[in-house]
Amino acid sequence: MLKEKHDHNPLTFPDGFLWGAATSAHQVEGNNTNSDWWHWEEKVQPPGMRSGKAADHYHKYKKDFEMAKELGHNAHRLSIEWARIEPKEGVFDEKEIQHYKDVLGNLKEQGFEVMITLHHFTSPQWLAEMGGWENGKAINYFERFVEKIVPELKMFVDLWITINEPGVYAYNGYLTGVWPPQKKNKFAAAKVFWNMALAHNKAYHVIHKHVQNAMVGIAHNAASFSHLHHHSLKEALAVWGYDIGSNHLFFYLTGSETHDFIGLNYYFNKYISFNGESKIPGTLDISKTRKDATDMGWEVHPEGIFSVIMDFSDYHKPVYITENGLASTNDDRRARFLISYLKEIYHAMQLGVEVKGYFHWSLMDNFEWADGFGPRFGLVEIDYDTLKRTPRPSAHLYAEIARDNQIPHHFMQFIGHSIDVGEVLKEEDPHD
Ligand code: BGC
Repeated sequence: MLKEKHDHNPLTFPDGFLWGAATSAHQVEGNNTNSDWWHWEEKVQPPGMRSGKAADHYHKYKKDFEMAKELGHNAHRLSIEWARIEPKEGVFDEKEIQHYKDVLGNLKEQGFEVMITLHHFTSPQWLAEMGGWENGKAINYFERFVEKIVPELKMFVDLWITINEPGVYAYNGYLTGVWPPQKKNKFAAAKVFWNMALAHNKAYHVIHKHVQNAMVGIAHNAASFSHLHHHSLKEALAVWGYDIGSNHLFFYLTGSETHDFIGLNYYFNKYISFNGESKIPGTLDISKTRKDATDMGWEVHPEGIFSVIMDFSDYHKPVYITENGLASTNDDRRARFLISYLKEIYHAMQLGVEVKGYFHWSLMDNFEWADGFGPRFGLVEIDYDTLKRTPRPSAHLYAEIARDNQIPHHFMQFIGHSIDVGEVLKEEDPHD
């Protein structure tokens, strides 16, 4: 019989594992006035819900990177702002290009591995006025932007993300209409998604043209799906459908050969079942499942990150967790969250998946799109009156993990002890 044994070993990660955090330009920089989001906020959102000066990272980046360094990070993911670099169609602003050279140069000076995102939800206002990503021309404009910026920045960049979460972008902006341009049209959403797939492929080739052995991918919002009733074939089929539609479609459209790695943003699990009168199973809201949720109402489900990593391991590419985190004003929850999700990533790695880095969302509190500044995602707290930065206890816990490249055993107390079944079985096998 298997007797219980506490495993007192730390969970050690491979040498060279990247430990960092992620941000995006519009969410932290402030005053991104030439972007479509800025214009939309001014028009539609009440003053308290506008990005304004955000965390003023545009001016405070040096201090912020110093802080990340002190917090043990060896890598950083950030985005550059197309609307700053090309404020008018075809007109590139050399000052802003220099700004990003300074930003990325500073990261490099401080020894960070740099992951850059070229498009993170925001586009120049001039593009929005031409129909945005629904207009096929967006593909060529994006390609021209990438063609301009890659040679300028390539000496500072280690990993390239072309587009952040194309599916989420199309869904929120064109299907549910909660983000600009607030459309609710299936065909428009499909067109945007398709155009982004083509734009990714073009950008992929441009980057490879300029950078030898470039590592290029996307940051993909991967959700895990579970059925409530395992005996229900309909629910099982629906889980399969959701997985294909929301997790894999972009990779099928682009072809997996234009992804040198798989970048996964993992935030939530969705339960699938019959809802109300509907004969087709769908996703259940957290108010129905009553599971533990973050301040965004997203289910806390550490096993989900294990299951999406395993799901994507079929592509046989290195994996980066390009975002994972929670909105919570209770930092104890962040500490528990970190340990429990990192432990699941570790398990996936033990099964042979080459996970090469983890970027927590986010380095600091930031502007959470249509939800404003309410949700607190930061390892570092921002006081929006004074812009003072204060690392939360979870940031120090993460620092210890990052510095030692392992989760020490005593951190397991946050989530309960674990049993190393393999070890116990070995001890008990008389033939071993
Ligand atoms: C996005 C971030 C966002 C985070 C939390 C991700 O989908 O890339 O911009 O802040 O989720 O909602």
